[in-house]
Amino acid sequence: MKMSPELEKLFNDQITLEFGASMVYRQLAIEMEDNDFPGAAQWLRHQADEEIVHANKFIDHLADRGNHPSIGTISAPKSPGTTMLKVFNAALAHEQKVSAAIRGLVNAAEAEGDLDSRPLLNWFLSEQIEEESTVSEIIGRIQLIGDDGVGLYQLDLELAQRPVATTENTGGSPH
Ligand code: FEO
Repeated sequence: MKMSPELEKLFNDQITLEFGASMVYRQLAIEMEDNDFPGAAQWLRHQADEEIVHANKFIDHLADRGNHPSIGTISAPKSPGTTMLKVFNAALAHEQKVSAAIRGLVNAAEAEGDLDSRPLLNWFLSEQIEEESTVSEIIGRIQLIGDDGVGLYQLDLELAQRPVATTENTGGSPH
């Protein structure tokens, strides 16, 4: 069933936010590349690709329901600096912003009784818990390591283990 124009606008805003998140992560990857942490850069590039998958999920949902997906203005991402801690703190702050936006969508859909978006939004609620948890865990590791170069080098090697992502919406979890 087609969603209301009001809900369509909110979903389109989320498409823009997800593409914006991709740009945020891409910039953060650049900062890590700049500071010679190729593993962290690769991890963040993977995340940038995942955000495109998220945007595609919303686009596909709107299109499937006969609504019109449209991408809004994406503002330039800001650089938080080039230390690993600053970069991953910026990532967490952005994830928290996205989580708040998803909760807003859930509330708006529920207020309208829009049941058809429920499975998609439930997927995103779980996804946000996971993304915040993953980034928080990395921040905890960085704080534990402090300024120890060997520790940071080791963490960078571990972050490099993340496999290459796809930007396609394959239907399931992009992890
Ligand atoms: Fe699409 Fe990282 O939230």
